[in-house]
Amino acid sequence: MPHDFMPGLAGIPAAKSAVSDVDGERGVLEYRGIRVEELCKRSSYLETTYLLLFGHLPTRSALERWEQDIALHRRLKYSIIDLMKCLPEQGHPMDALQAAVAALGMFYPGRNVTDMENNYWSAVRLIAKLPTIVAAWARLRRGDDTIAPRDELGFSENFFYMLTETTAHPLWVDIFDDCLILHAEHTMNASTFTGLVTASTLADPYTVVASSIGALKGPLHGGANEEVVEMLKKIGTEDRAASYVEEQLRNKRKLMGFGHRVYKVKDPRATILQGLCETLFQTCGTSQLYDIALRVERRAGELFKGKAVHPNVDFYSGIIYEKMGIDTDLFTPIFAMARVSGWLAHWLEQLRENKLFRPDQIYAGEHDRPYVPLDQR
Ligand code: CMC
Repeated sequence: MPHDFMPGLAGIPAAKSAVSDVDGERGVLEYRGIRVEELCKRSSYLETTYLLLFGHLPTRSALERWEQDIALHRRLKYSIIDLMKCLPEQGHPMDALQAAVAALGMFYPGRNVTDMENNYWSAVRLIAKLPTIVAAWARLRRGDDTIAPRDELGFSENFFYMLTETTAHPLWVDIFDDCLILHAEHTMNASTFTGLVTASTLADPYTVVASSIGALKGPLHGGANEEVVEMLKKIGTEDRAASYVEEQLRNKRKLMGFGHRVYKVKDPRATILQGLCETLFQTCGTSQLYDIALRVERRAGELFKGKAVHPNVDFYSGIIYEKMGIDTDLFTPIFAMARVSGWLAHWLEQLRENKLFRPDQIYAGEHDRPYVPLDQR
């Protein structure tokens, strides 16, 4: 069956899914039919993960059990920590995260993905342990000891604790939790698709998540949040923002944190994150990076007139993490900590009616070439 070739599979559905939906014309994102604005206002990251995985909001008792299951599986086996100690400390945290997640699968080797009980515990472990790995790596590479999770702390509060051994300001915890909600899921993006391709071979969920982490790392996907902050730092002052944007576009270079395959208007997550920036800076003092970002957005808006290129989720998120004192190269691992719930929701959904991904290609090479012996080439 011949088909037109669509570079990047743009506009080609790769799955039927009820996990989330994007209306790119109106700038609407829903998880299981509920708008993300509503979830940020009223839900928590962990409640949202339940919604994504199981398709409905939990009852009070179901939520308590879910939170407890996650809290009790945050610890890492000492061998995983030992393994991370062997990695080069200048290595990127996304690589350390990918290596540790792949290794986790060797400690929990449930290969039979038709065992739904085992799948439940794999999902719990992955959601619970990713923050512990990220925080552990952030400390180990500086030569510090890792900090064990505290069962009585909430998900986001515990992450800050494992990172810094201090209790974070409650406002930071709330804002960070909203950031995790906003990064938890986003339809058929590159990392989700990668995970689903791996999952379609019936590989175990640790391998699925490790492959998704690899896809998320690139600067055209999750890696853009790190690049945005680097770009804003490079610009340095507000008065240089407009000329930087002009020069980038004149030289046909991409502005990081702008553009999206699906959104034709400003990404709703960027709008919410911008609001979170303002709430944070009202309490904790301004951020020069934010002031520069506003100028970049304004000038880009003028120059992109008529082109559907607007700020995406990665444009404002890093500015928040930067203000919270989090290292720039941890931004994408934090994205992964949140997105793991979306990856797992799609994995569980696909398992119900799995079909091996095996697309076609349009062959553009030659046929019937003679083999030329080595001494005649
Ligand atoms: N800066 C400048 N021009 C852009 C940008 C940008 N960031 N994004 C798109 N364009 C232009 C592009 O040059 C092209 O123009 P023309 O038609 O004149 O050649 C047009 O818009 C279409 O761009 P494209 O790259 O073909 O579109 P795409 O759907 O393949 O790309 C994208 C989507 C996200 C890869 C792209 O917008 C991009 O590279 N953005 C910068 C990296 C980034 O911020 N990534 C995060 C994506 S959202 C969150 C996530 O996935 O993690």
